[in-house]
Parts: sequence; structure tokens; C-alpha cells
Amino acid sequence: MSRFLAYRLHAPTAGASAPAARFVELDVDHLSPGEVLVRVAWSSLNYKDALAAAGINAIVRQYPRIGGIDLTGTVAASSDARFREGDPVVVHGFGIGVDHDGGHAQYARVKADWAMPLPAGLSLREAATLGAAGYTAGLCLHWMEHNGLAPARGKVVVSGATGGVGSIAIDMLAGRGYAVTALTGKAAELDYLRTLGAAEILPAEVAKATGKPLDPAQWAGAVDAVGGEVLAWMLRTLQPDGVATAFGNAAGAQFDATVLPFILRGVKLIGINANSPMALRSEVWAKIADAYRPRHLDLVANEIAFQDIPEAMARMLARQSRGRYLVRMEG
Ligand SMILES: NC(=O)c1ccc[n+]([C@@H]2O[C@H](COP(=O)([O-])OP(=O)(O)OC[C@H]3O[C@@H](n4cnc5c(N)ncnc54)[C@H](OP(=O)(O)O)[C@@H]3O)[C@@H](O)[C@H]2O)c1
Repeated sequence: MSRFLAYRLHAPTAGASAPAARFVELDVDHLSPGEVLVRVAWSSLNYKDALAAAGINAIVRQYPRIGGIDLTGTVAASSDARFREGDPVVVHGFGIGVDHDGGHAQYARVKADWAMPLPAGLSLREAATLGAAGYTAGLCLHWMEHNGLAPARGKVVVSGATGGVGSIAIDMLAGRGYAVTALTGKAAELDYLRTLGAAEILPAEVAKATGKPLDPAQWAGAVDAVGGEVLAWMLRTLQPDGVATAFGNAAGAQFDATVLPFILRGVKLIGINANSPMALRSEVWAKIADAYRPRHLDLVANEIAFQDIPEAMARMLARQSRGRYLVRMEG
């Protein structure tokens, strides 16, 4: 097989904190081992990819490493009987892009246990637009509904609303009949959020400490991308039996809370880790392709060429991005 292109992170040079990232030509033998060789059609940029490439939070510890925590493509070769050449697959998590070479290359080699057949009803492009972010949004909805959330219960608030997970969560929730409130720091994106289905949009500043253990109850559900004061505010303002899902920490890893929302209102807080076992992935992806299917993936997707990865990552870190960066690996 001919050589192919990869965007690879190399150990930081002396005095630098960020890895040295560059496009390189590789052979398949350079890739982390695995039974399934995938010709990558699409990858994406998740916040974690941008943090890893910038050397923030020591996400990557062994170099060189190809980033990219999600990818979609077709099987080019497999030594595992579950996959045959040409099969369309989706891979995210399981350490790809972190401690195993990931999706920011034209080929990836992964363990067969990590490769999920493309869910029926989705194209490779749609599945990559969703990617780890769409799966996270779907997982939030799955666990909230499992814990009693239904449209008739009331409004659902989504923080980090213009981000990858937030955008898809709004789209999924609104499509399923929920009244969605978007919490955003981007006053310029109100039209975007309304088109996705947000019925109400609040500036992120409303989510400030009040010094009280409980504030007026507003939400039946809450999807939190940012942590810190925002998560604390959500817990104080959930309705009785309301349910919050938490998966991010850009606004802070710590949050100030009391037990009162839990013991007086029966509020539930569910931690979301998208690196879930395959059985749960398959179950939730099947819902994402059908009952949870977002209606505005074309609006959420910002398609970029492979060589545009560095610039797009910088925009993500500067909080200047919106929706999902979809990386076209072919051509
Ligand atoms: N636990 C898991 O398994 C899991 C899975 C997926 C993602 N995550 C995490 O979830 C978070 C969101 O991921 P993503 O892919 O949606 O990222 P993203 O596309 O970069 O979006 C994050 C959004 O959060 C808001 N935001 C950014 N910086 C902020 C800050 N300092 N304070 C408050 N809000 C801020 C912005 O929205 P507005 O400008 O609209 O406010 C931004 O668009 C990331 O921290 C990511 O690492 C975790």
C-alpha cells in the first residue's frame, strides 16, 4: 500500500509545553497495532483533540501520536472475522487519538472490539458529523429519559449551546418534542440556536452563584457541557425529580453545591462518560440514527479539509467555533 498522510503530534521540544504537531507521510506499519485497518473517510474535531494538540491537561502522554478521537471509514483489511474489506465502520473513544493512533490520518488501525458497524440509516459523513459529540448528546438523552424525563415534564436547559455536543443535544431534544432552553456565551449565534430548535436562549451570565442552596425551580432536565458555576446553577434550579447530565469542565472542574436539591427535590445528577462499552454504544447509536435523529446536521457541520485542522483547533480553543468541525480525509 502506498504511503498516506497523518497529522501527528510529536514530543514537545525543550522548553515547550505543546507537542510539535505536523503533517507527515507514513506507512501502515507506523500505526498503533490492531486487527482492523480502516481507510478513514471522515474524522472530526472534538474539544479534547484541541486540548491534546495544545498540550493542555496532559491528554497525550506518549509520542508520537496521531490525534483524533473519532473517525468513520471503510475496512481496508481485517484479520478479525467480524469485519470484511469494504465494511463501513464508526470508531470513537477506547483511547484512539490519546493512547492509540486516532482519526487524523488517512488510515487507522484499531482493535476489532472497538469498531462499530455503521448504524443503519446513517451515512459515513452523518456519523462523523455526530461523532463522539453526537454520541455524548445521545447518551445524555438516553439516561435522562431512563430517569423519567419526558417532554410533558417541562423545559430542558443545555449549556455550551453552540458547541458540538450542545448543538446536537438541542437538535435532538427539540426534534423529540422537548422545550429547549439554550445557555450560551455567544450573543451572535441566536439565529443558529433558534434554527436548531431552541425555544428560549439565555446568556451564560445568568448561571451565577446566588449564595442560596435552592433557586426557583425551572428545568425538568439539564445537559451540562461546562461544569463549574453552570452545573451548580442547574442543580439549584432543577424541578422536583429533575435530572441533570454532566460531561464537561471548560468552566471549571469544581462546583459549589449543597445536598438540598438532592434531598428536598429528588434531583438526579448523572455523570456521562462517552467511552462506554460496545453494547451501550450500539443501543444508543441505534436511537441516534432513528428516534433521536437530529434534523439539522448540515447546519451543525463545518466541513474542513484535512490540512485545515490546526487552524480549526485554534478557533475551538479561542471559543470562536460553532457546531462540529467535520474533517474530510480523502482527496
Ligand atoms: N465526558 C465525556 O465523555 C465527554 C464527551 C464529549 C465531550 N466532553 C467534554 O464536553 C465539553 C464540550 O465538548 P464539545 O465537543 O461540545 O466542545 P466545543 O465544541 O468546544 O463546545 C464547548 C462549548 O462550551 C462553551 N464554552 C467553551 N469554553 C467555555 C468556558 N471557558 N466557560 C464556559 N463555557 C465555555 C462554548 O459554548 P457557548 O459559547 O455557546 O457558551 C463552547 O462552544 C468539552 O469539555 C469536552 O471535553 C466530554
